[in-house]
Amino acid sequence: MNTGVIEKRAVLSKPGYPVPSKKLVDWVEEVATLCQPERVHWCDGSQEEYDRLCNEMVGNGMLLRLNPELRPNSFLARSHPSDVARVEESTFICTTHEVDAGPTNNWMPPTRAKEILRGLFDGCMRGRTMYVIPFCMGPLGSEIAQIGVEITDSPYVVASMRIMARMGKAVVDLLGNEGKFVPCLHTVGKPLAPGETDNEWPCNKETKYICHFPETREIWSYGSGYGGNALLGKKCFALRIASSMAREEGWLAEHMMILGLESPRGQKVYVAAAFPSACGKTNLAMLEPTAEFADWKLTTIGDDIAWLKPGKDGRLYAINPEAGYFGVAPGTSTRTNPNAITTLRANCIFTNVALTEDGDVWWEGLTEDAPAHLTDWQGQPWTPDCGRKAAHANARFTVSATQCPSLDAQWNNPDGVPISAFIFGGRRATAIPLICEADSWTEGVYMAATMGSETTAAAAGKVGEVRRDPMAMLPFCGYHMGDYFGHWLSMEGKLAKRPFIFNVNWFKLDKDGKFLWPGFSENMRVLKWIFERVHGQADVHETALGRMPIYEEIDWSGLETFTKERFGQLMEIDSELWKHELELHTELFEKLGERTPDALLKTRESLLRRLN
Ligand code: OXD
Ligand code: MN
Repeated sequence: MNTGVIEKRAVLSKPGYPVPSKKLVDWVEEVATLCQPERVHWCDGSQEEYDRLCNEMVGNGMLLRLNPELRPNSFLARSHPSDVARVEESTFICTTHEVDAGPTNNWMPPTRAKEILRGLFDGCMRGRTMYVIPFCMGPLGSEIAQIGVEITDSPYVVASMRIMARMGKAVVDLLGNEGKFVPCLHTVGKPLAPGETDNEWPCNKETKYICHFPETREIWSYGSGYGGNALLGKKCFALRIASSMAREEGWLAEHMMILGLESPRGQKVYVAAAFPSACGKTNLAMLEPTAEFADWKLTTIGDDIAWLKPGKDGRLYAINPEAGYFGVAPGTSTRTNPNAITTLRANCIFTNVALTEDGDVWWEGLTEDAPAHLTDWQGQPWTPDCGRKAAHANARFTVSATQCPSLDAQWNNPDGVPISAFIFGGRRATAIPLICEADSWTEGVYMAATMGSETTAAAAGKVGEVRRDPMAMLPFCGYHMGDYFGHWLSMEGKLAKRPFIFNVNWFKLDKDGKFLWPGFSENMRVLKWIFERVHGQADVHETALGRMPIYEEIDWSGLETFTKERFGQLMEIDSELWKHELELHTELFEKLGERTPDALLKTRESLLRRLN
């Protein structure tokens, strides 16, 4: 806490617009007293404000303006090498009782966390501007949306938040007098001494804390300026805090993209899909159907997060709480994701990608051949034979969703879109077939709860080390994972028309270690089968794991060389391997202990019986 004399009082500027919420003003004043910034700026969210901040950052070296002819109104930021990704080891769920955070989260009691954080935040913004960012996760006025206010000392965070969320004065108007908001407090943790000049990426190299308080719905983030650690609307609010709110209030906050699929006859379904990081989730959300499916339309609502609430008609309605994409750049190309490449044509902030000689960006995978000379993500000269990557593996683009050519017309609909199916997919070399429809809601939840990815390349025919990543929520669930499964199970009773649940795996290997599925662009065939199932059109083959397509039910046009035998390998259920797989599931359930729902343990037994 503040002791002694505050050397320099923060200049508490009045916002350039009325703020009816006393609670908000009081909180801002309290934070300014603690953090002691040089001045306070209330963000209005205007283009003018964004441009001014970006120009200031160009002026002090925090951003580099890209060639306006090649990449109009776009910038490159280079972070400090110690601050390049989410810091899971420094991420805490702070609940009164440890058991409520559960064994998959780092835990600290709220009193202890606040004591540490208050000490760290004391004077942490000296010499800097403190920005107040009112933001809304979801379309303004949506019943599914939520309001947050982020206070930060990073102009990079302000600019990024303007792309990633609806932000500024309109949100303060919406909040009104009595409205609730989630306070999100962030600092880079690098106060400036009088006369000290800033470096290009201020952060705290030694100390980082990303703390969530689900019981009081607050976020405190210290020491990092990067991505999910600093743009607090995303993983911290829209997943960790929101998952806990959703459990209390009977909805779902999920690590899912949302896509629309429209048939040539104009029938449309919306699907929400969860994949762990680095499984091509963004690419699938923006998939461009191949020539054979040119009369199908695939549209994008979101690429990372879905909030889903039961509607009055008993269906589940989803919004994308975000307004932009904070996507991984490496691997993104006109081949893997042409819609993303078009989205990135202008008005972007790139972080930790390489710079070309003519002032544009480059990353591994963007083009087949690397340019002969680049400046790498750390600002060093780079040539293809230098033995280093030009872009950081977690280099990112930040861009508004409105620039995406596949953006769905309903993406900003406050009512959300009705979800007909969930898809869950891990990265598994063995065991998990290409596509399987769960027999029941409980079995679907079971499949999703036990999904995972191989941590090592598995030898063909053997199960490698599997990192379980339930519903792709392992780093993002704000409470006990066993309770989370229970909440998912309880959603069945809240829905008159439940979405189908499918499990997919694009990554199964043949005995020579090659991918059995011919490639990402072929996923439309699987999506088409899902569409047909939702419409009750496709015949299925009942198996021990659930319902699967027969070869003839998949549309092979343009891929007639894909044999029935190879399909058989993709869909094979090896019962010995599966008995071993079920044994591995018990490790997860044992870790979660008595909060593992009984229904999942019973499902495991019933799967075992069926495999026998
Ligand atoms: C992300 C992630 O950054 O899932 O979206 O890691
Ligand atoms: Mn994600």
